[in-house]
Amino acid sequence: TVKTKRNVWSASETANHWQPWAASSHKGNHGKVGIIAGSETMPGAAAIAAGAAVKSGAGLTTIATPQSVIPMVAAHVPEATYFPRENEISSFYENKDGIAVGPGTGFDTDGPEILTELIENFEGPLVVDADGLHQLAEMLDRVRARKHPLIITPHPGEMAALIGSSPRDVNSRRFEVAASFAQEHGIYVVLKGPYTLVATPEGEIWINDSGNAGLAKGGSGDVLTGIVLAFVTKTNNIQPAISSAVYMHGYTADYLLERGVPMETMNAMEMIQALPNSFREIR
Ligand code: APR
Ligand code: MG
Repeated sequence: TVKTKRNVWSASETANHWQPWAASSHKGNHGKVGIIAGSETMPGAAAIAAGAAVKSGAGLTTIATPQSVIPMVAAHVPEATYFPRENEISSFYENKDGIAVGPGTGFDTDGPEILTELIENFEGPLVVDADGLHQLAEMLDRVRARKHPLIITPHPGEMAALIGSSPRDVNSRRFEVAASFAQEHGIYVVLKGPYTLVATPEGEIWINDSGNAGLAKGGSGDVLTGIVLAFVTKTNNIQPAISSAVYMHGYTADYLLERGVPMETMNAMEMIQALPNSFREIR
């Protein structure tokens, strides 16, 4: 087994690493984020991830999604700007400070090409989630050479696919799986589930202690992707940004539960709407 330092990330760590907005702020210095998400059958993933980024402090949010999907997503996230995914992707990422790729993309033909290009050429933090992770499995050999942070946010099933194993195996040794994968590839691994782990390229592990089973529902992962993207885009201190995002995500679910929202009815849009309360209470 791998020897790693294990630490708990909680409310005080999140508050201590909070980056307050300066009075002189403008949208440019709060981060221009790009989200490649959504498809004909999963437009909601784009709306949820982008909605969470907008409400987590991203200065400018742009969504790349198939042209036909734009009107539907735009109806839910009017704050964002839009980019047809069919276009040359370099013009999408070149002026961005952070990119997330994968929620609901249902990538088929264009997936590998887009992901390879981002890994090799995008000069900022890159968050890979969901369908992006399926593509990443095919190009892990390219990851080490990347000079900018790569953050992956797998649930146990996605983690298992990345290491050619089973969810059961991943869950039986999650510390070791997350830490060794992060070190081997020089990336940040967010291994999701109750007590989500954040593993760093240096082999540190941070355990999150917020969240509840109300999150065990399609869409909550997309919320996390948006928060993580907004937070990592504004700093060079990547692990605290990721851990704070994971904490805020779980805290928001805890906040809702405490205020009487049953686990059964908790959903992603409600999580996004509740983010202001979490920001107010934690920072
Ligand atoms: N306790 C605390 N947190 C939990 C729990 C739990 N019991 N269950 C889930 N969570 C949290 C996870 O830590 C993670 O942050 O909820 C989030 C779930 O993320 P995902 O598993 O990525 O879920 P999501 O993407 O929203 O929806 C599932 O992923 O595998 C695909 O095709 C699948 O459409 C499905 C989608
Ligand atoms: Mg997911």
